[in-house]
Amino acid sequence: PFKENTVVVVFGASGDLATKKIFPALFGLFREKYLSKTTKIYGFARTQMSNEEFKGRIKGFFQTPTEESKKLVDQFLELCFYHSGQYDQAEGYEELTKSIEKFEAERGVKEPHRLFYLALPPGVFVPVAERVKKYCHPGDKGIARLVVEKPFGRDLNTAKLLQSKLAPLWKEDELFRIDHYLGKEMVKNLIPLRFANSFLSACWDSRYITSIQISFKEPFGTEGRGGYFDNIGIIRDVMQNHLLQVLTLLTMERPVSGEAESIRDEKVHLLKAVKPLNKDDVLVGQYTKSEDGKKPGYLDDKTVKPGSKCITYAAITLEICNERWEGVPIILRAGKALNEGKVDIRVQFKETKNGIFKHVARNELVIRVQPDEAMYMKMNTKIPGVSHSTTTTDLDLTYSSRYKKFYIPQAYESLIRDVLNDDHSSFVRDDELEISWSLFTPLLEYLEGPEGPTPVPYAYGSRGPSLLDDFMVENGYVFQD
Ligand code: BG6
Repeated sequence: PFKENTVVVVFGASGDLATKKIFPALFGLFREKYLSKTTKIYGFARTQMSNEEFKGRIKGFFQTPTEESKKLVDQFLELCFYHSGQYDQAEGYEELTKSIEKFEAERGVKEPHRLFYLALPPGVFVPVAERVKKYCHPGDKGIARLVVEKPFGRDLNTAKLLQSKLAPLWKEDELFRIDHYLGKEMVKNLIPLRFANSFLSACWDSRYITSIQISFKEPFGTEGRGGYFDNIGIIRDVMQNHLLQVLTLLTMERPVSGEAESIRDEKVHLLKAVKPLNKDDVLVGQYTKSEDGKKPGYLDDKTVKPGSKCITYAAITLEICNERWEGVPIILRAGKALNEGKVDIRVQFKETKNGIFKHVARNELVIRVQPDEAMYMKMNTKIPGVSHSTTTTDLDLTYSSRYKKFYIPQAYESLIRDVLNDDHSSFVRDDELEISWSLFTPLLEYLEGPEGPTPVPYAYGSRGPSLLDDFMVENGYVFQD
């Protein structure tokens, strides 16, 4: 079910995020019949270009797996319009609203439903949010939703400042703070996995679990995005948001209901229980040239400040001080320019106490977020046949083989669909955002201050800093195959 005559406006429509992620996601929703043919979609940006030019730019990124879906591209593009305007002047917004109102009048819309997506750099974020509220909000006669993208500030103070400017204009239930990791299939699966399986609920605590690891690995460096990344670093880029969000869903208590606010309440409770991060429990690195010299080091990127100490790799341990998790080390690690691209969660269980086997591996539940969604549990079983010995094998749920018929949406598709359905459960609430910054700000201040460590070099294409394995072992993780 979808709403008819919805208006979607994407600000920053000529940028990378809109072109590569948001419009393809809207097309994906249309292709899968989650977006009505009566929707009207505007791209808004400063660049002057015609409708046709705009459509030409975006359609190259659409996914069309079947012949039938190829035919839908033109139908979808008929819903799309481009509108150019300055972000800080009234004119563009006024014209946009005139066009929206004309469309709604033609369709006889009584209660406008307008969704505004800000795919914008942080500098223009507030000016646009103010003007959208002033010129494009339908007021009491309809509903408006504002989707905002990170960065939501760069530390606690800037995040609070941003919030203090947005809050008087946009009510919390009108705002959707997107963290696209919350739209990934395996992340959406965490709540059902944890709370719909009694055997997992029974052992999901420090009595049985020895460590948890959430890791994010990318096989490429900044590749020309250095100017942006250099002011941010890997902790702000993916850890304070994406990995921390995954962590809260993995470790929070059971929400009192499946409602968005119940879920977000539990996430907040969990975040409040995280101990202040210890600066000694951190390993930071920066990539250098690949061993064969073919891939550039971070400092070779011309858009990066010479001599920058920007962190492109970080591993940190954190501890949750509540009855369930006391004493269980939780390792978050994230890095660019590594040997592979992979995001996974590893929950390692204690050894069995019984001494009848010489050596059995620890059980480990692995949830692979990407690529190739999968879940597997490392189990010990008897080697089949005459042997009495045990071996470790995987109890394996790989989605591509188990769920052949299911379509797994892209993260942005899944989240925009939630916005259209007014479901806030996979979006970050204001208090959640504030606590996540309170947690990371002191650590970032230390790392970026005069006492901060020099990042350990690691080669482009390697597993990360060579100290990593020791760091992991010190934090309770046991390597095993
Ligand atoms: C973004 C970061 O939020 O997430 C990027 O800014 C990163 O640096 C990206 O590459 C990773 O997202 P995904 O979905 O490709 O894992």
